[in-house]
Amino acid sequence: MLVVAHISDLHFNGTAARRDRINAALEYVNSRSSGIDALVVTGDITDNGRPSEYEEAGATLKSPLPLMICPGNHDVRGEFGQTFLAGQNFPDERGGIGPLNYARTVADALFLICDSSIPGQNNGFLSDETIAWMDEQITAAGPAVPVLVAFHHPPVVLQMPMMDTIRQTGEERLAALVGKHPNITMFMCGHAHTGAVTTFAGRPLCLAPGVASTLNLPFEGTGVINETQPAGLAFHTYADGRVISHFRSA
Ligand SMILES: [Fe+2]
Ligand SMILES: [Fe+2]
Repeated sequence: MLVVAHISDLHFNGTAARRDRINAALEYVNSRSSGIDALVVTGDITDNGRPSEYEEAGATLKSPLPLMICPGNHDVRGEFGQTFLAGQNFPDERGGIGPLNYARTVADALFLICDSSIPGQNNGFLSDETIAWMDEQITAAGPAVPVLVAFHHPPVVLQMPMMDTIRQTGEERLAALVGKHPNITMFMCGHAHTGAVTTFAGRPLCLAPGVASTLNLPFEGTGVINETQPAGLAFHTYADGRVISHFRSA
């Protein structure tokens, strides 16, 4: 059985209150690492993309597990790459920094950590380059290898009016990729600060709860943030062709 711990939306901002929530979620996972194969973090690592926030994140975000982190709309590619992907280059065609996509094989499963951010914008999009890279990686691994895909922005409407305006668009290209590769097993994302499970192109799509905060559904309150909820996390198990997602508060 494959076990993946999944946290999202840490939003390091230099405050002790935020760091306490992040440490609680990390500690919940790390203290149980002997039963877990990997830790995936689906973006918004910092709140404002400041160097001091990346310094704090780099010093705090540690695990004995294979740790795979993708950027979100609150992240900055340059600082993110220096902090978590040092020594790797992600050039774009204009000499800037392209999508921070990378692959890892853990416990005989292929993890595709994808960058759905658009520099300077809050909404998300997987570039054509990213979709082509995913196709190459999955093809090279072969059809028997389960593929777990992580990115920040959910590629579906979540019935959360504000978040639905800044979701991932262009998802028809991702759905076509799913149609081509039956071994795409699940999608992990965040961004909406709500623990949620649905499907995308017939595969499980799981949003980890927000570590930093939880956002209200329309009937939960008039404010954007739900102040009553603790930091949360998800565990995904995969065995016998079935993904099961379990949720915990930290
Ligand atoms: Fe976030
Ligand atoms: Fe986000």
